[in-house]
Amino acid sequence: MVSPVTDTIYNSDQKEYIEGLNRGTFDLQWLKDERPTFGVHAKPRNPKRGLTLQDINAAFAGEPEDAPTTRVMAPRGAVYDDDLPDMGYTYNEKYLVWSDNVVALYEEATARQWSATRDIPWDKLKKLPEDIERAECQIATLLSEIEMIAADFPAKWLWQMNQHFHEVKMFLCTQAMDEARHLEVFRKRALANGGGLMHCLTGTEQFLKTILHAPTYVQGSFLMHILGEGIVLDIFRGGEFLAQNETEKEIYRLCMQDEARHVSYGTMHLKYYLENHPDREKALAEMHTLADVAELGIPGFLTNPFIIEPLAVLMGGGVKHIDQGMDAVRLIWGRMREEYLSRCELAGMDRRARTRIPAEAPY
Ligand SMILES: [Fe+2]
Ligand SMILES: [Fe+2]
Repeated sequence: MVSPVTDTIYNSDQKEYIEGLNRGTFDLQWLKDERPTFGVHAKPRNPKRGLTLQDINAAFAGEPEDAPTTRVMAPRGAVYDDDLPDMGYTYNEKYLVWSDNVVALYEEATARQWSATRDIPWDKLKKLPEDIERAECQIATLLSEIEMIAADFPAKWLWQMNQHFHEVKMFLCTQAMDEARHLEVFRKRALANGGGLMHCLTGTEQFLKTILHAPTYVQGSFLMHILGEGIVLDIFRGGEFLAQNETEKEIYRLCMQDEARHVSYGTMHLKYYLENHPDREKALAEMHTLADVAELGIPGFLTNPFIIEPLAVLMGGGVKHIDQGMDAVRLIWGRMREEYLSRCELAGMDRRARTRIPAEAPY
C-alpha cells in the first residue's frame, strides 16, 4: 500500500514528483540532459599500466581552466544545477596550486604505496653497538617528529582549494598518506631494536611552526617542499651510508621515492606560480625575501650536535670514527646547498648570488 504524502516531510516539488511516480510517470531529465562527455571513450595509452588520469583528461580535454567561476564540488566536465552552493574556496586560480607534473605524480604515488608493516624486512634488524643504535634512533626520532608536518600543512589548505583542481588535492592526499607512513616507519625503527625515542629540539619545532602557520600556501610550500623536504630527501639519499642493515636500507630507499615526489611537486608548483602570476616581478621579489630569511635556519640545523653527530657516527661507523664521519657531514653540507640552489633555479628563482647558506661548513 502506498503511504499518504504528508505535508510536513516533502516540499511541493517532491510531492508532485511522488504523485507522478504513483501514477507511473517518471522524470527522466537525466536521460535528456546535454552531456558534454557522452560518447567519450578513454583508453589506456599503456594497457599494462591501466587507465590513468592523463588518459581520461586527454580523452575529453579535461584540463583545468585558469580561473574557474564555480566554487562547487561537482566534477569538472559534469552538468551542474545552477544553484549549487558556494563552498567558500579561497584558492580559485590555477597558478596558486598547480604544477605541470601533478597528474603524473598522483599516478606514481598511488602505484607506489607501500606498507611499513609488511614491506620492511624487520627480521633483518640485528642488535647494534650502543653508539650506533643511539645514533640511528636519534635520527629516527627527528624524522618521526618532522614527517607529519608535510601532512598537516597541505591538509590545512586542502579544503580551501577549488575542487576544479582536483588533481592537486588528490596528490596532496597521497602526500599526507606518505607522511603518515614515514612517521610510522621511523617510530617503529626507534622502538624496534632497543634504542627507543630520543631527543627533540626547539629549533626543529620552530621551523615546523613557520611552515604550519605560513600566511599563504605558496610560502609554506616553498618552506616545506623545497627547503625542508629537500633536505630530508638528501638525508634519505644518503641512506645507504646511514643504514646498518637491510632493514634500514629499505626504509630509507622507500621513503626516498616518496619524498622525491613531494619535492618535485613543490619545485614545479613554484615554477608554475612564478610563470603565471599576474605580477611576476613582485611575486619573485616576495619569494626571494622569504628565502633570505628561511635560509638562515639551515646553518643552525647543520651545526646542531643532536643532528650532525649522530649522522657522523653512522657514516663513520661508531664514535671512535666520528672524525671520518664528519668528513661525510661536510660533504652533505655542500650537497644540500647545491641541491637546494638547483631546485630554486629550476623553479625560476636563481639564488646563487644571493643565498645566505655558506658554501662550506664552518667545522
Ligand atoms: Fe616524508
Ligand atoms: Fe614529504
